[in-house]
Amino acid sequence: MNILILGSGGREHAFAWKIAQSSSCNKLIIAPGNAGTNQLGTNIDININDFDAVKDLVLSYEIDMVLVGPEAPLVNGIYDFFQQDEKLSSISLIGPSAAGARLEGSKHFAKEFMQRHNIPTAKHKTFTKENINEGYEFIDSLPSPYVLKADGLAAGKGVMILENVDEAKKELKSMIIDKKFGEASSKVVVEEFLKGIELSVFIITDGTTYKILPSAKDYKRIGEGDTGLNTGGMGAVSPVPFADRFYIEKVEREIIKPTIDGLKKDNIKYKGFIFFGLINVNGQPKVIEYNVRMGDPETEAVIPRIKSDLLNLFKGIDDGTFSEKDLHIVDDITATIMLVSAGYPNDYKKGKVINGLEDITDSLLFHSGTIGDSNIKTNGGRVIAITAYGNTLEEAKETAYKDAEKINFEGKQYRGDIGFDL
Ligand code: AMP
Ligand code: GLY
Repeated sequence: MNILILGSGGREHAFAWKIAQSSSCNKLIIAPGNAGTNQLGTNIDININDFDAVKDLVLSYEIDMVLVGPEAPLVNGIYDFFQQDEKLSSISLIGPSAAGARLEGSKHFAKEFMQRHNIPTAKHKTFTKENINEGYEFIDSLPSPYVLKADGLAAGKGVMILENVDEAKKELKSMIIDKKFGEASSKVVVEEFLKGIELSVFIITDGTTYKILPSAKDYKRIGEGDTGLNTGGMGAVSPVPFADRFYIEKVEREIIKPTIDGLKKDNIKYKGFIFFGLINVNGQPKVIEYNVRMGDPETEAVIPRIKSDLLNLFKGIDDGTFSEKDLHIVDDITATIMLVSAGYPNDYKKGKVINGLEDITDSLLFHSGTIGDSNIKTNGGRVIAITAYGNTLEEAKETAYKDAEKINFEGKQYRGDIGFDL
């Protein structure tokens, strides 16, 4: 099969690494990809939200299957575009329909969905400029801190958490009236703050049945001890120690199954991944958010733990044999450390030469913001993810951190405390 992966991060490199190992994989194209994916297949530089450009690529490389990495093309309706195009409708696209992608594309839609299907989540209400005064009253009725979420996609920046009631009201006004996040914040979800430890659970589904992938925890803040600005993610571990078999069974019963049943009841076509962003509140898992894709850097920790042929599972989604396929997971624990550019998540410089990559033999390297063939340079804020296996989390971390020392570029930064709270 000829496979096209859309995206350019560590997630897509991890997918490419796994798919390239499948005996069913013939040609592997990554668009636009990075210096890491280029070593496993062919990078083609297109704008993945330009669906006509994706179509040209699919037809000229005789692609049989498209795996969509990030959320934007899904929310923009790439699945439906393929379905409605005479030449593309027979090509398998792993990702939900635009209706399904609203689970991530609209916080309001996701909250209504959870309410409708009895899925545990924080208490909430949605406000627009028409009822902003009720929004101020709702804030008054909640204890501090206050959680405000832009309804639409806001590049991961649309969630504000405020301690002070007046600050929270000011923020609500700034989001709705001053359009702080553009159209994305013309609607705002205000919700109850939940206190607990976060974890991510992932499934692959054909829309009817599903398989639960290993759990993971990511570390979003730039600073050690979870301080400072939010980033795309500075590291991850898999599995999450407290998410044992009984806990995951509870998540399955109360969250995963009702979600799949809810999609069916609502007549929403869904093939692909669901990423459940959960918070554990005194033993009770609640949904913080849905994502309609895998996480980054969680994928870099989760995919290496999958023993089964991932492409074979995807083929099952397409030909109706998904439920018959097995999913085998290795016992080893993984730790992923993200090396980032100086200044990230604010402004940073690109084009710094990366040294030491060839010295890494004990860890897997998943490139993120990198460019080049032999002379590899930085090309983004998150540069490279280092994933190591271990019999224990300590062992995995030790190997990953040893290798983090060996890779160098000007301004290299990383968090030294991934997994500190587990
Ligand atoms: P989201 O984009 O919805 O994942 O929110 C970003 C981050 O904000 C989450 O990873 C949580 O750390 C935090 N967050 C979101 N909603 C809540 C909530 N209701 N209570 C506590 N923290 C939250
Ligand atoms: N690491 C969080 C995410 O991918 O959304």
